[in-house]
Amino acid sequence: MEGIETLKKWVDESENIVFFGGAGVSTESGIPDFRSVDGLYHQKYDYPPETILSHTFFMRKTPEFYKFYEDKLLLEGAKPNAAHLKLAEWEAKGKLKAVITQNIDGLHQLAGSKEVLELHGSVQRNYCMKCHEFYDFAAIKEKVVSSKQNDDPKSPDYMVPKCDKCGGIIKPDVVLYEEGLDDDVISKSIRYISNADVLIIGGTSLVVYPAAGLIHYYRGKKLVLVNLGETSADSSADLVVRGKIGEVFSQL
Ligand code: OAD
Repeated sequence: MEGIETLKKWVDESENIVFFGGAGVSTESGIPDFRSVDGLYHQKYDYPPETILSHTFFMRKTPEFYKFYEDKLLLEGAKPNAAHLKLAEWEAKGKLKAVITQNIDGLHQLAGSKEVLELHGSVQRNYCMKCHEFYDFAAIKEKVVSSKQNDDPKSPDYMVPKCDKCGGIIKPDVVLYEEGLDDDVISKSIRYISNADVLIIGGTSLVVYPAAGLIHYYRGKKLVLVNLGETSADSSADLVVRGKIGEVFSQL
């Protein structure tokens, strides 16, 4: 595959790699991305997924939100693929400083990565909106699935996870449309990207802002794109590798 040799050389020589990724990093783990033809945004729902994944929708139609969320995002059993594992290996060897991801699936941490900046939050963390009690993935999954199996689909609480302590509604720590990104995560990401020697961008369409805008803080001369589809950054990249990221990374 074109470009792999150059990428391998850059990776071998560097001790300051930063990775910036998106949903395409997890498709080889069986999690669909958003904008590919078989991605989430091309499937049929009563509302467009961008609408369902918005703050207003969450507040106004919580059961509808959780129906979609349980079906498409509260996924169990996905395993890290070669891309996640390689990034964790580079970090352990002291070559990679951080993984900055738009994904909420927690697969980088499962692969062993430590410095993971989750721009859009994580399905692993959930909080009661009233008393801020914490719930993990398994707790939410259990609550949502148990309501799905036992409660009346017409009930206003159908599939809505409630806090054991105060009865408040539990919200995933996931950044919905209309919500802002965490300032601390943003400033750390900017610091890593602007100091990086090699910046590898992979598995992202680079169309969702402000996340996509962060790559403009890179000042080096080794901007690499590993992506199946074209992106707006292809023309400004120093190297473009067109392919599946798991397959590409397993050759590095
Ligand atoms: P997208 O679905 O927009 O883009 C995924 C990109 O990955 C596409 O360019 C694909 O061609 C590419 N791709 C898919 N599989 C791949 C593979 N195996 N190897 C390499 N490339 C592959 O996903 P994101 O860019 O992550 O936000 O989308 C950004 C945000 O939009 C998400 O974080 C989510 C969504 O709305 C929120 O929910 C807030």
